Amino acid sequence: MDLWIEKYRPNTFDDILGQRDTVEKLKAMADRKEVQHMILSGPPGVGKTTSAIVLAKTLFGSQWSHNFMELNASDDRKLSVIQGKVKEFARSKPIDAPFKIILFDEADSLTQEAQQALRRMMEEYSGTCRFIFSVNYQNNIIEPIQSRCAIFRFKSLSEEEVYRFIDNIAATEEIKVDEDAKKALFYVSRGDLRALVNLMQSLSTVSKKIEADVIYKSSGAVNIDKLRKAIELALSGDYLGAKALISSFIEEGIGPRELISEVFDIITSSDIKIDEKKRGYVIEKLAEAEYRIVEGATPFIQLQSFFAFLSSLKG
Ligand SMILES: Nc1ncnc2c1ncn2[C@@H]1O[C@H](COP(=O)(O)OP(=O)(O)OP(=O)(O)O)[C@@H](O)[C@H]1O
Ligand SMILES: [Mg+2]
Repeated sequence: MDLWIEKYRPNTFDDILGQRDTVEKLKAMADRKEVQHMILSGPPGVGKTTSAIVLAKTLFGSQWSHNFMELNASDDRKLSVIQGKVKEFARSKPIDAPFKIILFDEADSLTQEAQQALRRMMEEYSGTCRFIFSVNYQNNIIEPIQSRCAIFRFKSLSEEEVYRFIDNIAATEEIKVDEDAKKALFYVSRGDLRALVNLMQSLSTVSKKIEADVIYKSSGAVNIDKLRKAIELALSGDYLGAKALISSFIEEGIGPRELISEVFDIITSSDIKIDEKKRGYVIEKLAEAEYRIVEGATPFIQLQSFFAFLSSLKG
């Protein structure tokens, strides 16, 4: 079975979603064939590794894999590897290219010692090799390396960009993903396209139609639309309707405390239409329920009593 994570990895700069400023700068570097050492920093699954690979493919064409080496966290991060494998690659001559590129994926996990050794190699072999570090946090890289690198920040992808990614996969794989399901995919993956593409692949083996409820269940996340509906039912005075939805969450194994904290997010956002005075009461009640749970009250009873309170606000 093809892994979608590889199948849907962009091959050109134009296929990379979002990250426009960064991608334009990388493109310009590739055009001029002038590449600096770099730190690519940003959250998981937003295109850091992909951009480094696209850069190598653009620069080196069919020779790209000879001139490009990727080390990820599962490779040995010990000093001996840096001094062996990495040094060997960095100092040997590039093939039909002015330099080689070595990518340290998940470089956050490089030890201080390894980074010190790399820093020296960056100077020694800057004639033949460029170093790229992909990290979640720039500050996990020692200052002397940071100061030798151009720093590129990758951002979380927007809802619209994530939807484009989903639509493309859905069309190619002939699977159905409706609006609610898209929303759910965006919500549970939080803009991490690696997590998203893996989730889509695993769900598509079960059914050609990907449903919102299944997405929330399989990721253990709360179905926000359903919870919002429960709140709205309660606010309209329909306690029993709300209670049925709440019970279905509990049956799925979602804890009352988690629900209370999600309810808090929903109530405090502007999604829910409620007059401001009432919103204040509701928040106070939530805080009270939370406090009682911490003090040892039964979470399920606190949750039910909160929804009973919401229903009582009507009229
Ligand atoms: N900006 C993007 N445009 C299109 N696809 C993307 C983008 N970002 C990520 N993807 C998809 O997600 C997969 C993983 O992306 P990538 O390996 O580049 O993430 P990363 O930023 O390096 O994450 P990590 O910090 O976890 O290493 C890619 O194979 C691709 O399918
Ligand atoms: Mg990566």
